[in-house]
Amino acid sequence: MDERILPRHIGIIMDGNGRWAKKRLMPRTAGHVQGAKAFRKCMRHCIDIGIECVTFYAFSTENWKRPKEEVNAIMKLFSDYLDEGLDTEKDDVVMRFIGDMEPLDDSLKKKIAKLTSDTAGNHGMVCNIAVNYGGRDDILHAVKQLIKDGADPDSITEDSIGEKLYTAGLPDVDLIIRPSGEQRISNFLIWQAAYAEYVFMDVLWPDFNEKHLDSAIEEFSRRNRRFGGV
Ligand code: IPE
Ligand code: IPE
Ligand code: MG
Repeated sequence: MDERILPRHIGIIMDGNGRWAKKRLMPRTAGHVQGAKAFRKCMRHCIDIGIECVTFYAFSTENWKRPKEEVNAIMKLFSDYLDEGLDTEKDDVVMRFIGDMEPLDDSLKKKIAKLTSDTAGNHGMVCNIAVNYGGRDDILHAVKQLIKDGADPDSITEDSIGEKLYTAGLPDVDLIIRPSGEQRISNFLIWQAAYAEYVFMDVLWPDFNEKHLDSAIEEFSRRNRRFGGV
């Protein structure tokens, strides 16, 4: 395993919670509860193997289309997670939330702001949680920022757009892992993933464990990345 080429930035689309629950004749929310456990396990493993940055897709700009009860249950899980008092100091993790936090409840927004500022001075892995995140919204938001800042159109570069994205300052995503059997990006990090490697896996997110992550990284290290060169 030590011979692996580690991706600097991994993106994970945490998908398949609903199907996991359905298979067990349980409500979809039970799948989200189990999914939150898989998230903790996976984040832990990323720290242990020395990943520099990981982004978890937790809630998309499109996920508001779901029944209100399901959306509320997901928001409650975020809130519980933030209440847990993470051991981010010991682990030295920098926690960030990417996406438009504006429509979230005030209490949730406060907790997010607190965890973000409490961990901003840490020096370890950067863990982004994408909440109300959409890749198109990310680009739109960046362009609006540039215009508000009075940018001269001729001076706009790929880098200046990148600096206005929610992921500003972080390396582009190298590896995107999508469990659940779906093979699509669903509006996740579309700008940042221009040269990402994709690994689609036939496992539902609540069943995702350290072995799945290791095997995705092994698959990544076998890929020949050319970035348009030869
Ligand atoms: C991912 O699991 C969780 C969120 C999108 C919030 P899903 O809820 O999409 O699970 P499936 O795709 O219906 O199985
Ligand atoms: C993508 O999953 C979003 C998250 C995992 C947060 P979805 O379940 O929303 O994606 P689609 O609808 O299958 O494309
Ligand atoms: Mg899904």
